[in-house]
Amino acid sequence: MSDLRKEIEKRRTFAIISHPDAGKTTLTEKFLLYGGAINLAGSVKGKATARHAVSDWMEIEKQRGISVTSSVLQFNYGGYCINILDTPGHQDFSEDTYRTLMAADSAVMVIDGSKGVEAQTRKLFKVCVMRHIPIFTFINKMDRDANDTFELLQDIENELGIETCPINWPIGSGKEFKGVYDRNTKKVMTFSDTLKGTKEGSEKIIDIDDPALVDEIGEDFRAQLLDEIELLDGASAEFDQELVSKGELSPVFFGSALTNFGVETFLQHFLQMTYAPLARQSDQGEIDPFSEDFSAFVFKIQANMNKNHRDRIAFMRICSGKFEAGMEVYHVQGGKNIKLSQPQQMMADERKIVEEAYAGDIIGIFDPGIFSIGDTLTTAKDKFRFEGIPTFAPEHFARVRLVDSMKRKQFVKGVTQIAQEGAIQIFQEYKGGMEEIIVGVVGVLQFDVLKFRLEKEYNVEIRLENLPYEHIRWIANKEEVDMDNLTGTSDMKKVIDMKGNPLLLFINAWSVGMVLDRNEGLKLEEFSRN
Ligand code: G4P
Repeated sequence: MSDLRKEIEKRRTFAIISHPDAGKTTLTEKFLLYGGAINLAGSVKGKATARHAVSDWMEIEKQRGISVTSSVLQFNYGGYCINILDTPGHQDFSEDTYRTLMAADSAVMVIDGSKGVEAQTRKLFKVCVMRHIPIFTFINKMDRDANDTFELLQDIENELGIETCPINWPIGSGKEFKGVYDRNTKKVMTFSDTLKGTKEGSEKIIDIDDPALVDEIGEDFRAQLLDEIELLDGASAEFDQELVSKGELSPVFFGSALTNFGVETFLQHFLQMTYAPLARQSDQGEIDPFSEDFSAFVFKIQANMNKNHRDRIAFMRICSGKFEAGMEVYHVQGGKNIKLSQPQQMMADERKIVEEAYAGDIIGIFDPGIFSIGDTLTTAKDKFRFEGIPTFAPEHFARVRLVDSMKRKQFVKGVTQIAQEGAIQIFQEYKGGMEEIIVGVVGVLQFDVLKFRLEKEYNVEIRLENLPYEHIRWIANKEEVDMDNLTGTSDMKKVIDMKGNPLLLFINAWSVGMVLDRNEGLKLEEFSRN
């Protein structure tokens, strides 16, 4: 096997998603711990410090103590090279979170065992489903009193519309959490309290038929386990790798990230059930990841990595071949060759310069302002473009007013650049100018980020006035529609996006249907494909 193939086959790239506080940060830390990438021994890091170590990039993050941006971490385990794409779980997350999922080959969903599926998980999950990527479920905090296990699974199936297949099964929860039963090996792995990971626990593995099991977990729990296994074997979906790969069946694991229980076995199963980077769609068909030609697409642009310079880093997911520092590649959207300089990669809690990287990896490239989200870079002779990243519908809108009209130039530059990074979407009034713009965001925190960054980086003060619009529709057949003579509703507003596409904003959901009824032939879409 060639070295290139060997390197790419070791790659696993997944996104980790959860509702805030379900334990995503803790689980990620534990993965890194098993991979030997960080050393947490002796110190159980507080949430704040742990978070800041990995994504202390924007001042606003520090002020709020939350992670606004998503970060990428790489570690090695068991001969694999694993890339974790972290997604902010805060409710004020941005479009960035959605886009990060576009760069992942699979997703790990962390659920709090006492809460079940929560709002944020639902949103992120929808994007995973759209991409048909495998979704693994880790039901966390089993060291606390958890909901009934069958109910938890039912909740996932009902709420998210995906079948579940428990790979292991918990025995008790909270103070009575005894361990998990592995359905494949038919062995019980017992849990001994590690006092929040401060004391070494001892794990024992006992066969389900071993009489010694009674001494370990007690007769009541053993009897309950046997009953539950019987019920489970009759009721739950059987493991089917093909369905897992298509994202139609989610393997479920139970554990406690805080006390490390169940983390390593989860990681091992996960690696067995996932594949090396798969081919990606382009306008010229599928691109083979093992091809000698390098190719990548930009899925995220982040400003302010260095406060002293107004620099931007474009994060790209390598889709084929090998990257070498300083290499020259063709930037398809820009129409010219460029040198990829200052490549960076996140390694545990520090950024380092990378010399080489392979399909599956994520690298950050210094961006002098030439990249946009979705751009393709390649060394291939055929200049293909990867499938675009959809523009997700903003859910909050505000009118932005410039306080000092003399600063118009900086203002336009600032909002345009921030919009290019994908943190906000900007719209103009239909037939209006750039004096007044409408900003749309996926999470309201982005309004603060915009105000803050315009002041800090562009020295421009703005006033934001919230607008009541909640629904946005792009006009799919704009060539056939006469915007001037569109029959609207009283709560409808016509606007134009950055690329000149016309769209409509509505306060009420039912108005969308009314406008469709009133304008024969009009076609509306929830997101823009351009
Ligand atoms: P998030 O990234 O999904 O938002 O969650 P995070 O890992 O930060 O965990 C949220 C809280 O839940 C933290 O407590 C963390 O210690 C706790 N936690 C995570 N996994 C487990 C688990 O398996 N069992 C139990 N019992 N707790 C868990 P915190 O008090 O908010 O912060 P900290 O100061 O303890 O870090």
